[in-house]
Amino acid sequence: MGALPKTSFPPEFRFGVATSAYQIEGAVHEDGRGESIWDRFCQTPGRILDGDNGDVACDHYHRWERDLDLIAELGLDTYRFSIAWPRIVPDGRGRINQSGLDFYRRLVEGALERGIRPLATLYHWDLPQPLEDTGGWTNRKTAMAFAEYAEVVVAALGDVVTDWITQNEPWVSAVEGYAQGMKAPGVTDWPSAICASHHLLLSHGLAIDAFRAVGPADGRIGITLNLAPMIPASDTEIDVAAAVRADGYHNRWYLDPVLRGRYPADMLEHYAAHSVDLAFIDDGDEAIIGRPTDFLGVNYYSVGRIHDASDASEGDASFLGFEFLPAREPVTAMGWEIAPSAFTDLLIRLDRDYGPLPMMITENGGAFGEEASDWSVQDPARVAFLAAHFDAAQKAIAKGVELEAYFVWSLLDNFEWESGYRPRFGIVRVDYETQERTLKDSALWYRDLVARHRPVKLGAT
Ligand code: FCB
Repeated sequence: MGALPKTSFPPEFRFGVATSAYQIEGAVHEDGRGESIWDRFCQTPGRILDGDNGDVACDHYHRWERDLDLIAELGLDTYRFSIAWPRIVPDGRGRINQSGLDFYRRLVEGALERGIRPLATLYHWDLPQPLEDTGGWTNRKTAMAFAEYAEVVVAALGDVVTDWITQNEPWVSAVEGYAQGMKAPGVTDWPSAICASHHLLLSHGLAIDAFRAVGPADGRIGITLNLAPMIPASDTEIDVAAAVRADGYHNRWYLDPVLRGRYPADMLEHYAAHSVDLAFIDDGDEAIIGRPTDFLGVNYYSVGRIHDASDASEGDASFLGFEFLPAREPVTAMGWEIAPSAFTDLLIRLDRDYGPLPMMITENGGAFGEEASDWSVQDPARVAFLAAHFDAAQKAIAKGVELEAYFVWSLLDNFEWESGYRPRFGIVRVDYETQERTLKDSALWYRDLVARHRPVKLGAT
């Protein structure tokens, strides 16, 4: 077992786990669910490692009660899950599928019955395919469609769900989906990606408006951003400037409009200087994106090592003027650099630059090799990773950062997008043949951490 953190979290701190719909639910053809861009993407040969897809995944759609029991058995306070837009509005706009809403109501009521507070994410990458057919996130109308969908869901579930997230990681949806093409819808066009990023952000602001109109009076809403400190490869002026640019492109392009109501001036200038057409930003959009949020969701996995590439003329990303260097050891099975102290720094910086600001860690975790027998799973690397990151979060709290919750990614091993089922992120192992769940050592470590934090919960399950 890894070392348990020595200091304590504030008494009201919430410990949870996170999942997302397409990665665990399966049942893609059941109860009126429509097609999503991930269904389509997975059918395209060569897109997903081993040709896998989310048709069955963890079969959570049928096993959700058992999965909630697991969360309760671990003594956790809260559960972040996502709602599949194609289950609610199968065509993307228009007709509402009541069975979809019913499923999430059962799930949420089941969580509440077990003393688990739900945190619902409205969009975790599963866009209804009919909306992609009309341009997906490059089409401004998709942002309007999202607000309509958000209104339906919030009106239907607002009595049982208080905490909401609009978008999960808009950078990933935009850049990996529309520029790098490794995620659905698999487009490779940088101007499309930057346009998509704007519409994703706009959809966040429009959904907040819908939420304030029909949501619960005590409801809270925020966005989840994947934030990564960008570290210059050297202390030369050009590398330092490149890291500032990388930060602008990856972090501030999302943080600034959401939390300050305007895109970062240096990035607007940089894009304009590189002939990136930003005509899709209408007057008034930034004010919508900057609608007051109740908290910021932070997904933290790693850092970027940056060096200057402002002379590069080749490559369709050369307009960015920087490049990522290989990660430094130690890395996870995904090749992501393990950097817990940068996590502390990030939280302190967010508080300094954008605070006062309540924050939640909406995802943190890792994929590692692990030893599994029939009855146990040893994952010491994950235990060490989590111990170091919880410790890093506590250090930030000790410095005055307003952190209220922490969600480990993920409850279950699951469908890791283009990497299929090979990376295992769960603190609970899933045998995909039998759908059997086995607590890994990291789940037991987490249970102990929570029990030590809140002894009153001991034996409560
Ligand atoms: C995040 C995603 C999540 C999962 C983890 C490993 O970027 O939000 O769905 O894939 O990475």
